Amino acid sequence: MPPIKAVRGVRDILPAEARRWQRVEAAARQTFEAYGYRDIRLPLFERTELFARGIGDETDIVKKEMYTFADRSGESVTLRPEATASVLRAYIEHGFHVQPKPVRLYTLGPMFRYERPQAGRYRQFHQANVEALGETHPALDAEVIAMLLDFFGALGLADRLELHVNSIGDAGTRQAYVAQLREYLTPVQDRLCDECRVRLTRNPLRVLDCKTPHCQPIIEKAPSILDSLSPEAARHFESVRQCLDTMKIRYVVNARLVRGLDYYVRTTFEVLTGELGAQNAVAGGGRYDGLIHQLGGPADPGIGFAIGMERVVLLLGEDDRPPAPLALLIPIGEPALRRLMPVARALRRARLAVELAYGDRKLPRELEHADRIGARFAVIVGDSELERDQCILRDMRTREQRGVPLERLAIELAPGQAHDES
Ligand code: HAM
Repeated sequence: MPPIKAVRGVRDILPAEARRWQRVEAAARQTFEAYGYRDIRLPLFERTELFARGIGDETDIVKKEMYTFADRSGESVTLRPEATASVLRAYIEHGFHVQPKPVRLYTLGPMFRYERPQAGRYRQFHQANVEALGETHPALDAEVIAMLLDFFGALGLADRLELHVNSIGDAGTRQAYVAQLREYLTPVQDRLCDECRVRLTRNPLRVLDCKTPHCQPIIEKAPSILDSLSPEAARHFESVRQCLDTMKIRYVVNARLVRGLDYYVRTTFEVLTGELGAQNAVAGGGRYDGLIHQLGGPADPGIGFAIGMERVVLLLGEDDRPPAPLALLIPIGEPALRRLMPVARALRRARLAVELAYGDRKLPRELEHADRIGARFAVIVGDSELERDQCILRDMRTREQRGVPLERLAIELAPGQAHDES
C-alpha cells in the first residue's frame, strides 16, 4: 500500500521548528497584551456570505481562493481565509460595541487560501491578527503600527524589515481616483501583463500591486493616490505620520501600497523583507471604517493587521537544537526501575527535564544513549546503590562520578533551584 501524503500546499510543523513557533507566539502574546489587547478564539469556518460581504466579491481571495463547501445540511460554509471578518462578526454578535473604546482584540491561528503554493506561501498558513475597534483617532493608527514593530523588535528582527505606509483615502474619493487610474491605464493596457489587463476591468487598484517586471515602468508613472485624498483623509494621514515621527519610527511612504482586500480606507501599511523572494510581505493591515456597519453592526470604525507567522519563522532561521534532558536516569534491573519511577516523577514535577531508561539494557549502552540525547548527567542505580538508597551521579562531560543519596538528587542536579521535598 502506498503511504498517504499531506495535501499540496500544507505543511507539517515538526518538533524542531515548533520551538521557533513557540517563540513567535510568545512574542505576539506578550507584545499585544502589553498594549491592552485580549485574546479571542474564533471558529475556523464561517458562513460563506461573511467573507463575500466582508472581503469583497471582486478580490482574488473571494473569487479564487476560498475553501468553500456545502455542509450536510446544504449550508455554504468557508474555511476562514483571514480573521478580520470573523472578529467583526463576533464583535457584533456579542455586543462588544457597548464596551469602552477602543475594543482591542487579537487572535492567533490558521487561515486557508487556495493559492499557488511556493516558498513562504501555503494553502494553510497562520496569522497573528490584531484589531482595535471603535476609534478613529490617528494616534491609534500609529500606536497599532508601533505595536507591530515592537513584535518584530522582541524577536530581534526589526533591523531586517522595512515599514511601508500609505493612505488610500475614503471610499468616496477613491472612486474618483480609480476612474483616473483607469483612464491612465486603458491606453497602455497592451503593455500590461495578462493578469493586469483583467484587473483593469475588475479592480484597477490591484494593478499598482503587480510584481511583473514589465508592468513596473507603467505603474511608476501612474497618478498617485495621495494626490486625490480628501482634506480630512490627508489631515488624518499627516497626523499618523507625525505620531510615527514622535516615536522615531522609520517608514517609507509608498503610494502604491493598496492591499488585496476591499475593506480598507485611509491608512494602510505593510512590513516588508528582502529576504524571502517574491513573498516579501511579513505583515499587512490598515483601517477599515465602515466595514462593521457593512456587516450589519453599528457604524464603528476599526484598524488592524495580520502577521504571516510562517514568514516570521523563516526569517528566524534554522538554529533549532533539540532540547537535551538534564539527566538520563539509568536503573540496572527491575527493582531499580521501580525505585526510580517515583524519583523521575518528583524531578519532573520540579520542572527538571529528565529521561528514565527501562533497566533492561547494559550500562555501557545506556551511557552511549545518554551521550546521544545530550544529557548533562547520568544517574545510575544498580543493586548495591539500591541497598543504600543512593545513586551514582555521573557528569557526562567530565566523566566524574560520585555517590549521592536519592533524596538529595534534585538539589544536586539543580543546586540553584528551590525544591519541595514532598
Ligand atoms: P493579508 O495581507 O491578506 O491581510 O495577510 C497578512 C499576512 O499574512 C501577509 O502579509 C502574509 O505575511 C501572510 N499571508 C497571507 N497569505 C499567505 C499565504 N498563502 N501563505 C503564507 N502567508 C500568507 C489580512 O489577512 C488582513 N485580514 C489583515 C488585517 C487585519 N487588516 C486589518 N486587520
